[in-house]
Amino acid sequence: MISAEKIPNNVGLSSNKRLQRALEHWQPAYIQWWKDMGPQGFQDYHQVYVRTAVSVDAAGWAHFEYVRLPEYRWGIFLADPVHDRRIGFGDFMGQPVWQEVPGEFRNQLRRLIVTQGDTEPASVEQQRWLGQRCPSLYDLRNLFQVNVEEGRHLWAMVYLLHSYFGRDGRDEAEELLARQSGNRDKPRILDAFNEPIDNWLDFFMFTMFTDRDGKSQLLSLSESSLDPLSRTTRFMLTEEAHHMFVGETGVARILERTCQLTRTAGFSGDVRKVGGIDLPTIQKFINLWFSLSLDLHGNEISTNAASYFANGLKGRAYEDKWDDHRVTETTYELEVSQEGKLERRHIPMRTAMNEVLRDWYVSDCQAGVTRWNRILERHGFSDRLRLPDRKFNRGIGMFSSLHFDPDGHPLSDEQWARRKDEWLPSPHDRDYLLSIMNEPVYEAGKFANYIAPPPRGIKGLPVHFEYVRTEA
Ligand SMILES: [Fe+2]
Ligand SMILES: [Fe+2]
Repeated sequence: MISAEKIPNNVGLSSNKRLQRALEHWQPAYIQWWKDMGPQGFQDYHQVYVRTAVSVDAAGWAHFEYVRLPEYRWGIFLADPVHDRRIGFGDFMGQPVWQEVPGEFRNQLRRLIVTQGDTEPASVEQQRWLGQRCPSLYDLRNLFQVNVEEGRHLWAMVYLLHSYFGRDGRDEAEELLARQSGNRDKPRILDAFNEPIDNWLDFFMFTMFTDRDGKSQLLSLSESSLDPLSRTTRFMLTEEAHHMFVGETGVARILERTCQLTRTAGFSGDVRKVGGIDLPTIQKFINLWFSLSLDLHGNEISTNAASYFANGLKGRAYEDKWDDHRVTETTYELEVSQEGKLERRHIPMRTAMNEVLRDWYVSDCQAGVTRWNRILERHGFSDRLRLPDRKFNRGIGMFSSLHFDPDGHPLSDEQWARRKDEWLPSPHDRDYLLSIMNEPVYEAGKFANYIAPPPRGIKGLPVHFEYVRTEA
């Protein structure tokens, strides 16, 4: 028996016997998955200072305490309902939102929820070895905070599957624990979630760029006509903001340290000689994780995206800010490749909804890169970081069969093969990063040489606070 209090929630779990029974079956499998596939080496004897969401108001979801990771209280929360909420876009605009899943959209909605749900445990799996190479207890704690919240996001999607999709939903919830990131036979659904994350530069870039794709998707799902989906994703967005904070500030602290070390090395010297991470390597990791995360937004021209929009299942980021919510007349101008030549073409706007979301995503990423460049500027460096062209290194969409350099210039297969290590992390770069991350830093207040301490600690605590402690 699971008691409802063990699962903090605002969905009336204790009075919903059917849901409680479904979760009773699923929860032990989840805990087993967490122990097998979650943070390795930190399950039994460590206490982590994390926040647990215990309600959706500001006081409730910022509840901090030491917990052992497998005892984290993964909760189920919906953002408060909006009174008389109406469908905000597409063919059913103006009608009341749905509290149940309409039969005709059941498959599409299930697919959207399962695809989103699959990314949540995947990222925990990708990050499971990082604790053994952490640059500080502060960072270790942030890693685990992200991990437990991704676990909670899985709960959020499983709640929807169990509540609204009957037997199919229960089967899908089990499958979400059966697929594994990078597994050859049963991989995660989306490619970026099968990529290994074995060093902390990967981790920070992932939380900067791939968690920001999470924000793209959650923003568009929070517009959904299916009200429970809208409400659960709206609450998930508050957690996503923290994940991107971890990524952006993690890279910022590496940049800060790189600038300091470069000065020590006498500018012309190789910063790797003094244990730092050089700017070209940082740029390569931007190129990699940005391009992988662009892929997550799907094909440029997509009839699925058009139908999600028409049916009100998935909107645009901040749908309110647009003037036209039906989008039946307008077109979108897109760069396409036609017989080896790039040209611009107008396509019906609804079929370009993936690209519209990608536009939002690119500008949100750009703002972050601009903030990083201020650090270089402040230290008197003339180098700048940048986002590669969106045709670079694509695995999905119309540019995936072609090659481009980071400026968007076409390359032959041979040129690409010869030069790609200039733009993407090479095995040599990865070996170097592992070599400086080999010794984890578990002493409170100490930081690995390649990263600067944060300006402040968590929740008003000092930077040297023992954010992860070993049980006596
Ligand atoms: Fe998530
Ligand atoms: Fe996230």
